This record gives sequence, structure tokens and C-alpha cells, in this order.
Amino acid sequence: MCGIVGYVGEKQALEVVVGGLRRLEYRGYDSAGVAVVADGELDVRKKAGKLANLESLLGEDPLPGSTTGIGHTRWATHGGPTDANAHPHVSADGKVAVIHNGIIENFAELRAELTAAGVVLASETDTEVVAHLLASVLPATGHDLAESMRAVCRRLEGAFTLVAVQADVPDVVVGARRSSPLVVGRGDGENFLASDVTAFIAHTRHAIELGQDQVVELTRDSVTVTNFDGTPATVHAYEVTWDAAAAEKGGYDTFMSKEIAEQPKAVADTLLGRIGADGLLHLDEMRVTDTDLREVDKVVVIACGTAYHAGMVAKYALEHWTRIPCEVELASEFRYRDPVVDRRTLVVAISQSGETMDTLMALRYAREQGARVLAICNTQGSTIPRESDAVLYTRAGPEVAVASTKAFLTQIVACYLVALYVAQVRGNKFGDEIGSVVRDLANMPRKIDLVLDTAEDVKALAAQLQDSRSVLFIGRHVGFPVALEGALKLKELAYMHAEGFAAGELKHGPIALLEEGVPVIVVVPSPRGRSVLHEKIVSNIQEVRARGARTIVIAEEGDESVVPYADHIVRVPQCPTLLQPLLAVVPLQVFACAMATAKGHDVDQPRNLAKSVTVE
Ligand code: F6R
Repeated sequence: MCGIVGYVGEKQALEVVVGGLRRLEYRGYDSAGVAVVADGELDVRKKAGKLANLESLLGEDPLPGSTTGIGHTRWATHGGPTDANAHPHVSADGKVAVIHNGIIENFAELRAELTAAGVVLASETDTEVVAHLLASVLPATGHDLAESMRAVCRRLEGAFTLVAVQADVPDVVVGARRSSPLVVGRGDGENFLASDVTAFIAHTRHAIELGQDQVVELTRDSVTVTNFDGTPATVHAYEVTWDAAAAEKGGYDTFMSKEIAEQPKAVADTLLGRIGADGLLHLDEMRVTDTDLREVDKVVVIACGTAYHAGMVAKYALEHWTRIPCEVELASEFRYRDPVVDRRTLVVAISQSGETMDTLMALRYAREQGARVLAICNTQGSTIPRESDAVLYTRAGPEVAVASTKAFLTQIVACYLVALYVAQVRGNKFGDEIGSVVRDLANMPRKIDLVLDTAEDVKALAAQLQDSRSVLFIGRHVGFPVALEGALKLKELAYMHAEGFAAGELKHGPIALLEEGVPVIVVVPSPRGRSVLHEKIVSNIQEVRARGARTIVIAEEGDESVVPYADHIVRVPQCPTLLQPLLAVVPLQVFACAMATAKGHDVDQPRNLAKSVTVE
């Protein structure tokens, strides 16, 4: 939540910063603002609404040229999305400008202290207190912004990323990080700070991860990182492996449609190099020993939203292949219910961004109880993998659209790899059985490609259904989380009532929702797998149709038994039941995207949402 960019170098800072904000806008779009340092002064422009509003303002009221600047795109927490609450916030003396991501929990107390000292605050934000505190500390540190930042950060509670510049010292940008993302980009004669590498990938691929409670000072030629107590910090430098084009729309109308189309590659990349010539899995990078895995007696998956649905899918496979009991829990609920976890529990934290605060807090709690935590994450250097005992990265590449698509598929694949690996280590599965699943997995990118061929048909269906008041989704077994995911996509993009149910549960209440013409999307398992599952869902299709529902059926090629009861059929290639979510969810993603487009909504930036949710 909130996108942050800082730049110092030889280029015009405004261009770099606004370019970076464009790539970070997915993190929040309630307001945007920039500040540059020029001629011993700070110049700020900020505006409520999307970045385009700020760009118009910059056209009407240009900033002076400068090679040092900061910029922010906001997802509002404290204070509504107004011009006054937009960042940057400037100290009363006009000497310091600050941008911020996160929440300063003791801000009320700090605000009261500043007010008592006669400071008049211009906004309702928690951020503004930092600007005033920095200004008050600067004289005592000889105007050393990094030293002042450390002093102020020691007083702050909560999770925050802060970036500041000061009027009197050009060519210096200072950042601070606690439990919120901040990455350094190292260039030649220029350096960058950003919430995410996408902001500077067009300029450099050399990145540095910052750790917890660290302050970084950037000049054109130096990057100095210290801990909040002033001691030198150890940091981890890495190279970003994808290029700028990966974070561009590349000819697609929206990032979401591009990311849906990238799914075959994302799945193939996530499998790459993890299966040896011997057909066995090699997950050495995971940093968890086989002895540890043999001791595990329970798996608990924690995640939010789409990642939670991926975890629900994974449970079926994990329990089937390893016979270890597995619970899947919303991260936001986990730590508040006194869960039973101990050192024999493997907690799997799934997160695309690696920054979701609910998941981070849940994993910290699990580790405090002695559990081992394995992160499944798409973002290198992010907080969740850093704080976990082990990590398996998905290789979806940057996911820019707020609605998660390719991350979901790769999270399922990564969970499956972990489950198979655990089965391999513990001897629950023999090499040939693992080899057979692995071969099926390797065929999935080609099959996903075939599902993508149905996109035009699904879009036409969405156009027909765009005036529906409500859409229901049902499924059984792994089709149940797929139904939940289909409903989530439709809610967040088309802003319409959509609900997913376990098909068997329908008759226990939700069937009362059915009336003439209500679309019910049914995820049908393979008739070749456990036929009883298939038979039951065919009965469910008949039940909903008998009550006037319009049945839209996602069924395997060759499954003729659904034909008499389906108003519309979307075909997916044949595959084993456990792998079917990788195919069945794709038409649901396309459906939601098309429905939002038909309704004229912003597909990539749905209202009220932000890509990475860094507040609890
Ligand atoms: C839905 C969506 C969210 C995220 C959730 C977790 O399309 O994107 O539900 O899945 O906020 O985010 P990560 O995976 O970054 O932890």
C-alpha cells in the first residue's frame, strides 16, 4: 500500500520520480504527490485522485529543474483522500519533506506533543508528525538528515517506510524501513529508493534489500545503510532477473489481460530447474532440511485473499500426497485465536507481494510459538521471505494488476512442488508416482494455453450477463476454492454481488438465492477421476437449473454428461482432478476482466483496493 520513489543523480528527478510512480500506482491511487529540492528550497505538488491529476497539475504549475526528488502514490489510512492529506508532507519551517507508507501507531501522542509545542498541523495524516519531528531534531544533529531520521524512528511505533529530503542539503535522500517495503536501486552516478523494484527497473537492475529497522542515506555516488541505533548494517545486494518490458502492458489493453495471457509461461518458469533428470524434485534453495521435514506432524497454511484460495487448493494435494494433516487459515484470523502450533508444525505463508501485513504478523506469531515457516512468495527481497525460515519463490514475474491472476496459478504450482517434495523425503510416494505428477504438471502450460483460446467465447458470455444482479459460483473438492476465487475476482473487478459455495452446501441455505435467470457458474471435476464427485455435481447442476438458474458449466473436453443441463459450456482440456484448478480458474479470470470492461470499470485499479496490503 502506497508507492514510494526517491531519486538522486544527474537526470531530472521529476521525470524519474513520476515514471516510477506510474509503475507503482497499483499500490494505491487515492492521491499522488512529488517534492524536489531546488535552490535551497523544497517545491511540492500534490493532488487527490489518480496520478493523472497530479500530472495535469504539473502541466499547469511546473516544478523547477532538480536532480533530487521524492514521490508518493497513496492508499488512504489516516485522513481521507484529499489534496491536504496527499504526501509529501512538509515541516512547518518548510525545510523537510516526507513521504510514508504504513501506519505510525503512536501518532496521536506525537501529534499532541507537537500541538502543545505550538506546531499547527496542516493535515489529518500520521505522516505529517514525522516531518515536524525531523525538522525539530535537525539542528541538534548538524542538519544530518540520516542521523535525524534514526532519532525520529526510534520514537515511532508501528510499521512504516519513510523517505525524506531537506531543503538545505541537495543531493541527499534518506529512507527508513520497519516492516514495510523499501528497496535501493544502485545506478552509475545515481541512486534510487522505491517500494518495489518496478519503479527503477528502467534505470538499473542492481538492487539492495533493506532489513528491519534500517536507515539508508543516498547520494549520487553512495549508499550508506545503518541500523536505527546508528551501527553499520548488513544488507543483501541482488540483481533483478526480469527486465523493464516485464512491467509494461506490451500491447495489451490492461495489465490484467497481459498477466492472464502470461500464465503458461509463469507456470513453466515456476517448474523450471526444480525437477531433476532423475524425475525427482530438487528444492535445495528452500533452505529446509530433510530431517526437519520428516519431523513435521502438521501443516498450517496462512494467507489472504487469492493466496488463501491457492492454499485451500494446496490442502487437497498436500494431504493426499503426504498424509500430513493440513489446515488453511486466513492470516488475519490466525493469531487471534490461540492456534495450536509448535516446533513440529510447518507453517506455509503464501504471498505474492511478500508484504501483506496480516500474513507477516501471522508468520511472526507462528515463529514465536516455535513453528518453522516456509514462505511461498513472488517478490524477491520482500519481508515475508526474509522473516521466514525457508522460501520457495514463484516465478510469475511482476504482477501489476491489482487483481491477482498469474500469482494464483504459480502459488498452486509451488505448493504442489513442496507437497511432492515432502512426500518424496518422507517416502509417502515413490519416484515413479512423483514422476507421473511432475509430467502432468509439465503439461499444464500447454493446456492453459488451450484454455486461453476460449477467451473470446467467455468475453461474449460476460457481455450477455453484464446486467445480472448477482452471480453464484459452485464447485466441489478443489473446484470449491476455484469457485471462491471466481467470485472474488468478479466482486473486486465488476463490483457486483458474487459468491462461491461448496456445491454440496447449496441445499443448506444458499439455494434460496436462486431465481429465474441467476447465472450459476459450475466448476465440474473430471468424470475420469473420482466419479462420485462428478456425479454429485451433475446433480447439483440439475438442482439449480430446476430453480430457474442459468447454468454456465466449466467442464472437461469429452464430458458429455453435463450437456443436457448446461445453458453454456466452457471446455477445459483433460487433466488429473488435483491439477484442474490451474485450468478451470482461467475462464473465471477472463470473465471477471471482461465483465469489468463491459461495465466501464478500471480493470487494473479497482476502487478502494491496493495491490499490497501493508496494514492490518
Ligand atoms: C485478489 C488479490 C488479493 C491478494 C491478497 C494477498 O485478486 O489480489 O486478495 O491475493 O491481498 O496478497 P499477497 O499475495 O500479496 O499476500
